[in-house]
Amino acid sequence: MKVLGLVGSVRKLGNTEILTKEALMGAEEEGAEVEILRLTDYAVKPCQGCAACLFQERDCIIEDDANFIFAAMATSDGIILGAPCYILEATAIVKQLIDRGFAPMQQNKIRGKVGGVIVPYATRGWTQNAFQQTNTWLLSLGVDVIDQLLCHVQGLSEAPLFSREIERAHTLGKRVAQAIKTGDHAYQGEEGICPICHDRNLRVLKDMETVECPVCAVRGSLQVEGGKIKVIFTDEAVKRHRWTVRNLRRHFTYHLKPSKDFFLKTKRERKEMAGRYKGYLGM
Ligand SMILES: Cc1cc2nc3c(=O)[nH]c(=O)nc-3n(C[C@H](O)[C@H](O)[C@H](O)COP(=O)(O)O)c2cc1C
Repeated sequence: MKVLGLVGSVRKLGNTEILTKEALMGAEEEGAEVEILRLTDYAVKPCQGCAACLFQERDCIIEDDANFIFAAMATSDGIILGAPCYILEATAIVKQLIDRGFAPMQQNKIRGKVGGVIVPYATRGWTQNAFQQTNTWLLSLGVDVIDQLLCHVQGLSEAPLFSREIERAHTLGKRVAQAIKTGDHAYQGEEGICPICHDRNLRVLKDMETVECPVCAVRGSLQVEGGKIKVIFTDEAVKRHRWTVRNLRRHFTYHLKPSKDFFLKTKRERKEMAGRYKGYLGM
């Protein structure tokens, strides 16, 4: 059993590294072999939108370290992602890897791994979107996130001063390893609103009747009972969330791949029409 820790902060011995290591110590206690990578130590270029992974059904053609990171995830049984909250969201390396995840998303080599997420943050009320990227990344790859944690810590390397956060990170690591051993991938973290990602963010759709998790696209409706908001999701809606194998396959097969035909059919027209933008302002 192997558990891989991924650190999404540049800071050496920062809170993310410390809390991720604490979680790995918990996993080790449960018998896991552990490994850690600092994501920013690796070259991860932006997705260049060439669509080779889509149309040629192959690994990403960019020669950098992204394929190595995805391969390390694929050869692990569990993944613990530590990603600090920077300006309301996860750090940029996480988004970079979300975009580069197009090939592994289609290959399903990471699907079914057990995941845990740790988000260190400093300012209450400044974390609203932090789990959106961590969930988008891991759920799009098919990882079963069984625990996620917002850790209130402050400045550089201060995490060890917050014993409750250290204990929770340790427990998260143990839970990840236990879930691998038992095969029970049920969510054990704090309950949120979305039944899939357990985050608390909702979009109100234009019909002004429907609400939707922006990450998982699970749709529901609101009821107010005794002044309290209740969000109702039908079982059917829950089953149809964005990240099911079926929905992802449909997305690639019916939405993305057919765009090739349109692209080829409109080749001459595009060349003519786009010509007036070529060279404008020197680019
Ligand atoms: C550029 C920057 C932006 C930050 N933005 C937020 C924020 O929006 N919300 C928050 O709660 N903390 C924010 N923080 C604080 C970090 O989340 C916190 O210090 C965390 O422990 C950093 O982990 P690290 O030391 O592993 O990088 C920010 C820190 C930096 C450097």
